Amino acid sequence: MINKEVSQIITKRRSIFPHQFNGKKIHKKAIQELLTNANTAPTHRLTQPWFFKVFSGNSKMKLAKELVNQKENYSEIFEKKIISKFTSSSHVICICMKRDATKSIPEWEEIAATAMAVQNIWLSCVNSKIGGYWSTPKEINKLSNFLNLKSNERCLGLFYLGLYDSVSERVLNRKNIKEDTEWFN
Ligand SMILES: Cc1cc2nc3c(=O)[nH]c(=O)nc-3n(C[C@H](O)[C@H](O)[C@H](O)COP(=O)(O)O)c2cc1C
Repeated sequence: MINKEVSQIITKRRSIFPHQFNGKKIHKKAIQELLTNANTAPTHRLTQPWFFKVFSGNSKMKLAKELVNQKENYSEIFEKKIISKFTSSSHVICICMKRDATKSIPEWEEIAATAMAVQNIWLSCVNSKIGGYWSTPKEINKLSNFLNLKSNERCLGLFYLGLYDSVSERVLNRKNIKEDTEWFN
């Protein structure tokens, strides 16, 4: 049988958003542990395409401003929203991916492997007071200069992280997987 504790951790994983954070700072050691777990994700041909840029303090607010500057049409609402999200967050991690130089596997596999690394971060937050979520604003495609990314590197999103006290349950109407599974004997 499947280990119940593993199933519980998987089903308990949820997105916790910046407005739910309490504004306290996460210890660097905890962030390092999240990233160590990320690093155990499966990866075809061991290309290990993921890498992370972790922002806190002043640098975090510089990243927020960069996102605002990169917005196609300036919007005060967008600026306020981003600044508020970054202020509430303890750390913001830029989720990055490096394409294998020899293109030994298709790009989608490297994106998939990076997503699995992110899932490891997300799962590692379960049963702790650390919460977070993966955000993919359009502006992440314009961060290459700011993040010093090379031509074979991409930013696949931001992972907002913060501490929270309690959250009310957000009910999600998930599909019934039985209806989307075909069995063949
Ligand atoms: C690749 C990816 C990108 C996402 N981008 C966003 C985003 O831009 N904005 C957002 O509010 N949520 C984003 N999410 C989080 C989803 O909204 C969230 O996972 C979904 O609502 C299910 O909630 P749960 O994580 O609590 O199960 C993203 C999730 C994934 C996997």
